[in-house]
Amino acid sequence: MRILFVASECAPFSKVGGLGDVVGSLPKALKAQGHDVRVLTPRYGFIPGHMFELHSAPLGVPLGHGEIWCGILESRLPDSDVPVYFLRNDEHFGGTDVYLGWGGDLFGLARFALLSRAGFQLSRSLNWIPDIIHLHDWPTAPAAIMLNTVERFAPFDRTASVFTIHNMAHQPRFPKEGIEVMQVGWSEYKPDGLEDFGELNPFKAGLYHANMLTTVSPRYAWEIRTPEGGAGLSHVVEFRAADLVGILNGIDEDVWNPETDRYLPAHFDAHDLSGKARCKTALQKELGLQVRPSVPLIGVISRWTAQKGTDIIASALDRLLELDVQIVMLGSGDPQLEAHLRHRSRFGGGSFCAWVGYNEPLAHRVEAASDLFLMPSRFEPCGLNQLYSQRYGTLPIVRSTGGLDDTVEQCQPLTGAGTGFKLYHLSPDSLVDTVAWAVSVYRDKPDLFRAMQVRAMKKRQGWSVAAKAYLDVYDWALQRKRA
Ligand code: ADP
Ligand code: GLC
Repeated sequence: MRILFVASECAPFSKVGGLGDVVGSLPKALKAQGHDVRVLTPRYGFIPGHMFELHSAPLGVPLGHGEIWCGILESRLPDSDVPVYFLRNDEHFGGTDVYLGWGGDLFGLARFALLSRAGFQLSRSLNWIPDIIHLHDWPTAPAAIMLNTVERFAPFDRTASVFTIHNMAHQPRFPKEGIEVMQVGWSEYKPDGLEDFGELNPFKAGLYHANMLTTVSPRYAWEIRTPEGGAGLSHVVEFRAADLVGILNGIDEDVWNPETDRYLPAHFDAHDLSGKARCKTALQKELGLQVRPSVPLIGVISRWTAQKGTDIIASALDRLLELDVQIVMLGSGDPQLEAHLRHRSRFGGGSFCAWVGYNEPLAHRVEAASDLFLMPSRFEPCGLNQLYSQRYGTLPIVRSTGGLDDTVEQCQPLTGAGTGFKLYHLSPDSLVDTVAWAVSVYRDKPDLFRAMQVRAMKKRQGWSVAAKAYLDVYDWALQRKRA
């Protein structure tokens, strides 16, 4: 099967969150199962272009009332022969921001309408027509509408679309004149298309137009059918429920592997955790924490937003530290939270450190060094850090929502089972209670804690299972399209 991923992020070249991780690793797993998979993504200003091969012919991409001329650079996903095509147009993508905010401005729509349409033009110019175009969240949702309108003819009349929902909450809206930017025709300005309360909502149109829908965990697939989880579109998800499948994300085991991780000062596996203890000491030194091997070290790595419950951690922070633990927070986001946590870090007394910013190597070191990992999300479509944590023997403490509920097994003191600790109600009180429970297991029941670590580390979380499930979805999409 020929599969084209069109996406706004692709790790390691560009990554704002987990969407980038998924686009950087799922294609490799599909390729390993014998399929011809390729990725199209923007060449943002921060991606060094000189390393990649430049296609000689420029690509003309229809947009608005004319055509935009773009370059195509080519590379490969690391450790694979999956081609990645970078769409180069400095006016639209030359800056350093992947996203430009929450909509409003037609330029924000034009950038990703350009990327979406470029998928078709690139396929034509390569004379490589995909069976499936696989789209990710609102930025490339326009390609699903284009496939049903301006691009419905040969050679794309047998191509089907799959739209993966990574996060229903990310729904920028644009002025209705954006219809002309996208060239899809005013007939698409309707409630069961692009129109949403007088504006354009590409996410909504993606939900209506794609041949099949997926989201990144079974539990989230159910949650988004409810008004609480559907971010204003639960009725649309409900309407398409028969075409929606929840498939858990995997992890890239080449990158997130404590036995080989290139960012770690020492390596370890489920049978021998002595390397993990060395990672802990090294991180305590690196971040100016007291070097205490036996203190429970708790890691947090996330965007500091309401979604991730960072405000709840901030409210509970003093009470958490009274449990005699150390806490390391790596992230950035809400400016008030950043200021508060930075300030708190200055008076951390060797037990609290907030590292503000994005730092991939440090993220690996925090995962490896910590004993526990905190992820009290308000909602979480899948979540990747709790998966990395389990792989690194770092037991996650999570709110039982979305993919967190699907991927973490609650601690069972009687049977010794479980891979983490779940809280059901989100509040500073219940967070403190659950952390206190986890800390008591760490201190008072080391055998149980160790058994949970082994169980977590031995879980198979690679992409091969998910890849098989996506292949089924691709088949169903083709059946719907070609029926
Ligand atoms: P989301 O996509 O909602 O942000 P995920 O858990 O799916 O959440 O993915 C987040 C990804 O981004 C993970 O790979 C995580 O390690 C990474 N990440 C988040 N914040 C940072 C940071 N400050 N530094 C390094 N990596 C980060
Ligand atoms: C989104 C979600 C996150 C998920 C990621 C990758 O950013 O917030 O839960 O893991 O996409 O699918």
